[in-house]
Amino acid sequence: MAERFITIEGTEGAGKTTAMQIIIEWLQARGEEVVSTREPGGTALGEELRAVLLAHRSDGMSAEAEVLLMFAARAEHLARVIRPALARGAWVVCDRFTDASIAYQGAGRALGIERIQRLADWVHPDIQPGLTLWLDLPVELGLTRAARRSTPDRFEAEETAFFERIREGYAAIAEQQPERIQRIAAEQTPEQVKARIIAVLEAYTKPGVIDD
Ligand code: TMP
Repeated sequence: MAERFITIEGTEGAGKTTAMQIIIEWLQARGEEVVSTREPGGTALGEELRAVLLAHRSDGMSAEAEVLLMFAARAEHLARVIRPALARGAWVVCDRFTDASIAYQGAGRALGIERIQRLADWVHPDIQPGLTLWLDLPVELGLTRAARRSTPDRFEAEETAFFERIREGYAAIAEQQPERIQRIAAEQTPEQVKARIIAVLEAYTKPGVIDD
């Protein structure tokens, strides 16, 4: 487990960007070095793979190709950004990580959680986020929010049932790992969401909980 590795998860429109900002500012106010990044992406290759993965020109891509491209981007991200940052003692705050592959490809695309776990065991057997904030929002609400923001990408254009399976996938892993995965009820007011995120961060960084 990497204690300084924090990830943010959730379905579309749940407020990940705002949550990222809150976490980054909170850590920086304590004088910490923070590397803020995202998946798929975070490196030149990763951003190219992201473009392929999200574009409608890839409509109909097989679920297997999709998950392998996610992990190809992740392997590059780990090698070039995440591992070096953690090694020098920085915090890494990442918008999505392997839990997204479990939820989207494992549950959403029905590849099965175990198959994704095998890829994770191969690509990063030694690294797992210390803390994951799961912004949980009723699917319809999130999709309405996301649609207001921009034209739907290849994932956002999926039907509601896909996102319901993803939400169930997140719920399943949150139940399995209640220490690491903290659920944030994202339909609350922005102030309530912020207060809850800060409470989670305070509890997580309390002396004795993580090493300095
Ligand atoms: P974002 O736009 O929320 O940053 O994420 C891009 C899309 O990629 C989003 O719809 C979720 C999807 N995704 C997966 O399906 N599997 C993954 O492993 C990751 C990291 C993202």
